[in-house]
Amino acid sequence: MSPVPVETITTDFASVDISDQLPEGQRTPHATEKNPSSPSHGISEDSTSKSSLTCPVSGASATPGSSCPISNPTTQEISPSLLRTSLPDRINYIKDFLMFGTPDQDILHKVAPLVNDLIPQVVDDLYAKLFEFDVTKQVFLKRNEGFDGPIPSRLEDLTLDSPQLVYRKIFMKSWARRVLTSDYSSGKTWAYMDKVGIMHTGVKSFRHRNHVAPLVVPYRDCALSLGWVQTVLQTAILQLAPAELSNDEKIAAIGAE
Ligand code: HEM
Repeated sequence: MSPVPVETITTDFASVDISDQLPEGQRTPHATEKNPSSPSHGISEDSTSKSSLTCPVSGASATPGSSCPISNPTTQEISPSLLRTSLPDRINYIKDFLMFGTPDQDILHKVAPLVNDLIPQVVDDLYAKLFEFDVTKQVFLKRNEGFDGPIPSRLEDLTLDSPQLVYRKIFMKSWARRVLTSDYSSGKTWAYMDKVGIMHTGVKSFRHRNHVAPLVVPYRDCALSLGWVQTVLQTAILQLAPAELSNDEKIAAIGAE
């Protein structure tokens, strides 16, 4: 059999469509393992039916149990430069990596009212945690955007009830509520989350912060804080009464977080 040039091969029996048409969080080939009810993860129905299929390259017929590597892709192509420059591409990648989709949003929305009253305490505890170490505490000696009250000059005089800290906590509580109640299919949600992250890197992202000195918090401390918050929330979710949230819902909520 003469070799067939690659460009001329039509693989209509194995059409793989990793595109934005697919449900969010399900563009990655293995996503259906998390959402088994999903009808397709980009492979057309035809591609999974093996009866009377013939490979256009080798001429071989499908046998029971065999699978075509083209119809079973394992790798999604990601452009590192687009990840840096395009928010939608970045978000698609994150959602697909974490398999974050509508079911995750639904369970977060269900959990939100159940843990809402804990948010003020979680935020207080987070700042207490950040005050346990000089590297994280000293960041709060700098004057924040929009705050014109008194700020101590020495680290030891900065307390958790300093006016600027009280002010800071308002933003953090609002962020925590937004995380649990946002519409994750909306670009605006991601634009906000993205700006919050970027503003900690020394780059200006929010228009309302244009005229203040850049904030530089090492990624290390942001990741540690996020991990800390996640542990507190997960513990709170696991402690909810079964009548409030079933075991399956608790597992789903922890996965969504
Ligand atoms: C869980 C991780 C974190 C989240 C979700 C978070 C979230 C936020 C939010 C929502 C704001 C206000 C944004 C606005 O102006 O609208 C903010 C500001 C700020 N964050 Fe964070 N943050 C985190 C970690 C940290 C850490 C680890 C530090 C320092 C050690 C820090 C220091 C600050 C400071 C100083 C500001 C105020 C900057 C200014 O207004 O001048 N953040 N953060």
